[in-house]
Order: sequence, then C-alpha cells, then structure tokens
Amino acid sequence: MSQRLAILGGARAVPEGTVKPWPPIDDTDRQMVMASLEGTTHTFGPNCREFETEFAQWNGNAYCATTNSGTAALHMCVVACDCGPGDQVIVPSYSWSSTVTCVLHHNAIPVFVDTDFDTMNMDVDKIEQAITPKTKAIIAGHMHGLAVDMDRVMDIANRHGLKVIEDACQAHGATFGGRKVGTMGHCAAFSLNQNKCLCGGEGGMFVTDDEDMMFKARQLWSFGETRTPAETRDYHAYALGWMYRNNDLSAAFGRAQLTRLDQYLEEQKANALRLSECLQGVPNLILPIEPEGHGHNWYNYTIRFDMEALGHSHDAVDFRDKLVKTLRAEGVETGVWQSYMLPRMTVFQAKNGYGYGCPWTCPHATEVDYAPENFPVADRHAGWHTGMTTPLRSPNGPEVAELTAAGIRKVMENVEQLDEVDWEAQK
Ligand SMILES: Cc1ncc(COP(=O)(O)O)c(C=O)c1O
Repeated sequence: MSQRLAILGGARAVPEGTVKPWPPIDDTDRQMVMASLEGTTHTFGPNCREFETEFAQWNGNAYCATTNSGTAALHMCVVACDCGPGDQVIVPSYSWSSTVTCVLHHNAIPVFVDTDFDTMNMDVDKIEQAITPKTKAIIAGHMHGLAVDMDRVMDIANRHGLKVIEDACQAHGATFGGRKVGTMGHCAAFSLNQNKCLCGGEGGMFVTDDEDMMFKARQLWSFGETRTPAETRDYHAYALGWMYRNNDLSAAFGRAQLTRLDQYLEEQKANALRLSECLQGVPNLILPIEPEGHGHNWYNYTIRFDMEALGHSHDAVDFRDKLVKTLRAEGVETGVWQSYMLPRMTVFQAKNGYGYGCPWTCPHATEVDYAPENFPVADRHAGWHTGMTTPLRSPNGPEVAELTAAGIRKVMENVEQLDEVDWEAQK
C-alpha cells in the first residue's frame, strides 16, 4: 500500500516516545547502588566478589573474574591461552574491533576467516584452511547473540591442539545444543557495557573452568600480581600486567540487573519472534535466522537489505545508509553496528599496531595477508545490514515490535519514494 514516507513529510510509523530506554531501573538497582556508595570500598569490593560468584553460578562456570570491560576480559582470554609473540590466532572477519585487537595486545598475530552469510558468524568451513604451525587459538565470536557451531569448532580445535576463546560479549544466555555460551570453549569474555543484555554501565566478565587459566588471567588483570585484592598483597609484579579490575559501584548495578536477566531474555526473545512474524513477506529483506540446536538471545536483531534484488549491489553502502535514514525518520530505532568488516580497518590494512610494524614485523612473526577480497562475504554483510537492539528490550513489549515492523514494511514497500528525497539536505 502506498503511504507517504515520513522523510518526505508523511506521518511516522512509530510515534515519538514509543521506545523506552534500556536498561529498566527499579528499586533493587537503586538500593544496591546506594548501599555500595554508602559503603567504604569503591574500588574492587564486596559487590565485585559477590558478582563473580553469582555470574559464575548463573552461567555455569567454575571461575569468574569481573573486569572493567569486555575488551579487558578478551585480553585475559588471550593470555590464559598462552598466546604470545608470533603466535597466530584465528579470528572472525566481522565483529567488534577488540575481538581482534586483543590479540595484538600480546604481540600475537590475527588470522581472519570469512563470514557465513546466513548466521553472520565466522564460517566454520573455512577455519581449517587458516591453521598453520603457528596457530595457537581460535576466537569464536557469537555475533548478535547467535552462538557459533561450537561442536564443530571444538572438534577442529581438539584435532589440531588449539585453545578456543568464546567472545560472548553480546551473547549472555545464548545456547548451542542446550549449553550456554561461555561453557563450551576453554575460556570466554562477556561485556557489561550500557547496551549489553546484562548492563553494569561498563564492565566485563572473564570465565573459565580451568584453574591454571584463571591464574594467568588474574595475573594480567591486576598489575602482574599473583594475589587477588582479597588476599594479602605483596605489591610485586611477577609478570606484565594491566589494571582490568571492576569497581564496586558498577558491580552493585550489574548484580541488581542480574536478578532480572532471565526475565529480560525471555521478553527479548518473545519480542524478536513477534518482529519476525510481522516482517514476513516484506520485500527485499533478509531476516535473521535461529538454526536448529541454537538458542538465540536476540541481542541485536539484524536484517539485511537484498541489494541485488533492489538493484543496488554496486552502491550498497550508500543505499543502505539512505534506507537507514528513512527508517529512522519513521521512528524505527535502527543503526549500523559495524559498517567496516575488520580486515578493512586501518590498524590491519596499515599493520600499524604498536608502530614500526610490530607485531607483524617482529622476529617471531610470519607473513599474513589481509587483502579485503579474501573476505567477500563479510564485506557484503557489512554493506547490507542494519540492526535493532533497544526496541526489542524490556520494558518494550510486542506492541513496539509491531510498530517497528510496520515502519520497516512501510519503507520497503515504498522504496521508490527514496528517489524523491533531497539527500544533500539530509546530511
Ligand atoms: C562482539 C564484541 N566483542 C567485544 C566487545 C567489547 O566489549 P566492551 O565494550 O565491554 O569492551 C563488544 C562490545 O561492544 C562486542 O560487541
């Protein structure tokens, strides 16, 4: 049905003020954060210790350290897996930058694997051809809250004697074969930043079931010390360390949110399923999938515009950006999470790392090729997608999913009206 697009002066599909912000705050948050504030420890304190125990229990891990970011937890994973100068680590070509820059922090060398278009995760079929005698580990990133096929990743890793790091920063509560992410590899990282399914403002979690890995990770976490802040410290750097500890206020907030995480995830799933139902039959749209055996957490409901069908494969990024502006004008809260696949980022193209070409030119390193044409699927995905987070999160319910779907349908059914928009004026 022809309707005037809001970007051309028509009525918005999603009225202003419809989408409520994330995360919901209630009295538990207020009481726990105030109690921490009025306590005596604002650095790593009692809430941090409790948070580690509670999160480990919630996820089913033996050990957990709370950190000041998911990136810090990823770096701890790299160290726990003994990746060092010149070692190669297999990484996804589409993810957040720090899924891969964490490898550089320990002078190891990332080796990219292209993306599987349907799941938007690392293409497991391409892992084995990326393995060399230098390979030490694989980072499996569970993109948008959909787990990688961990049976296949672990099988490859076991056959080649490799460690597996799960980047579960987006994937709290996602499952594969009934097992939660973060329990299938050797260690894992979660993020607690503002936008994540479990929010502590900022922060992260390192988890493992291996005591030795926990020891190595904790050493990096707190200045290279071998003792935790809970023990008597000798203030001695036994190894190179950073300061990756979380603080008590963030941990209090995260603990309060954790009491409602299961409920949040249920609501998010119901909203995502409603959105999928309402988007059936919308032209030129590729909807996200939840393959058999996977439990999606729907952290980011990512759609792709079928640029071939739309006749825009040659200028996909430009046309996608126009579609996104048009959707936003309708009140659809959508955004492009990563418009560059990772191998295209300057740090990898210029191999500028620590300067002087390190770690790629360090004596231990062997040559790796980051030519963008080696990762065509990741590149295509990067130019075709947009995603939604807040509209599907608590306290938003199915009615917001329905309005969001109506906005998307309206734009895609009236896509020819984009020719009438003065795009210069929209800049
Ligand atoms: C897949 C992925 N990995 C790592 C991170 C880094 O987490 P943080 O922002 O907590 O450092 C993020 C955060 O956006 C992410 O989405």
